[in-house]
Amino acid sequence: MNVADSEVVASILSPYYSITDSLREADLILLNTCSVRDNAEQRIRKRLQELVSLKKKNKSLLIGLLGCMAERIKEQLLEEEKSLDFIAGPDAYRTLPELIEKASLGIVSSNVHLSEEETYGDIDPVRYASNGVSAFISIMRGCNNFCSYCVVPYTRGRERSRDPKTILSEAQNLFEKGFREITLLGQNVNSYCWKKTDRNVDFADLTEQIALISPLLRVRYATSHPKDISDKLLLVMAKYPNVCHYIHLPVQSGSNTMLKKMNRVYTREYYLERIRKIKEILPDCAISTDVIAGFCGETEQDHQDTLDLMREAGYEYAFMFKYSVREGTKAAEKFADDVPEELKIKRLEEIITLQQQLSLESNKRDIGKTSTVLVEGVSKRSDQHLFGRNSQNKVCVFPKKHYKIGDYAEVTILRCTAGTLIGEAVI
Ligand code: 5AD
Ligand code: SF4
Repeated sequence: MNVADSEVVASILSPYYSITDSLREADLILLNTCSVRDNAEQRIRKRLQELVSLKKKNKSLLIGLLGCMAERIKEQLLEEEKSLDFIAGPDAYRTLPELIEKASLGIVSSNVHLSEEETYGDIDPVRYASNGVSAFISIMRGCNNFCSYCVVPYTRGRERSRDPKTILSEAQNLFEKGFREITLLGQNVNSYCWKKTDRNVDFADLTEQIALISPLLRVRYATSHPKDISDKLLLVMAKYPNVCHYIHLPVQSGSNTMLKKMNRVYTREYYLERIRKIKEILPDCAISTDVIAGFCGETEQDHQDTLDLMREAGYEYAFMFKYSVREGTKAAEKFADDVPEELKIKRLEEIITLQQQLSLESNKRDIGKTSTVLVEGVSKRSDQHLFGRNSQNKVCVFPKKHYKIGDYAEVTILRCTAGTLIGEAVI
């Protein structure tokens, strides 16, 4: 999400600035921030401290803070962090030229206004950090779900969908420039909804329209809320081979008590039924998840329920976190953060260990199979090897032969680790 936002910012500022890799050469440094978990904010605080010395060396250097943290802490940040010249919330990027202008005159300023309409739909992002093969397209912004632990609805505002015409033309342009994979992004893509024409466009329709651009253009998406993932979408995924068979379906917890307290509005049983349906319609679909360890009041049994659900779902991959209180959320206000830190860490470690096993087992099942890999780059370990991903989003490494970045290769899997498939291209 933040990469996509930074690309929008780069586009807005392109008439005034060009991008440099060297911090020391920069006249302007922008930190795009995330507030979802406390450690992300701590890292930014540290980074800001480090930047103070650069400012001492270069008196005209301007430093701005963008994104969720700007939204969450607002003016207090400007007071506490003396290296900051301005802050801009996630819906204020169009005003960056003015904020920067003021900052250059020595006026410290901020814009953290949240909009109900802003989607940056008309802005063509500058893909400055891209590999030229895969790109993100933001299809909606904000979130209306108010999971009790989560700060996103407060920092990114209400959910709004972007005009499908602008999404399609962005995807078409990327394809024409040589991109071969796009990931449609939103906090909850399954509630994408465009109602302003005679015909409504939902997420399944949008995915289908993008899949039709070319069979050579892969389509991925993230993130799906389990409450909204529809059979209609699963059927679109089954119909178009270029829509990747990979779904990120955050469960957060396997305990009904925790799910209720988290305001996830589904039960363990409902979630597992969705998994069953996915496997029925898309038998080779990989599924990943997000898990939070040590949410308020979590008992050992709740934790065991999570481990048990993970085994039953057999996830290919998981993003795993320990709960951190986010000020202003319902959980911060209503529930005690009563799982001791050591116990949170212990549970998180158990979750990570189990996921390592599940990932390894899943990868072992792929040995001997052949899958289509979109080549993304040269392997870090050897310049004689390339890496890419298969439809299931698994990283595959193989000897490069005649293949190059952006090609599709049929790769037979020979070996694996928990994180990587290692194989050989068929031709
Ligand atoms: N503490 C820990 N993890 C959190 N997440 C969101 N809020 C919190 C929090 N307060 C995790 C959820 C979400 C992912 C993006 O971050 O798992 O799906
Ligand atoms: Fe946060 Fe829940 Fe929205 Fe995801 S769906 S961004 S966890 S409130």
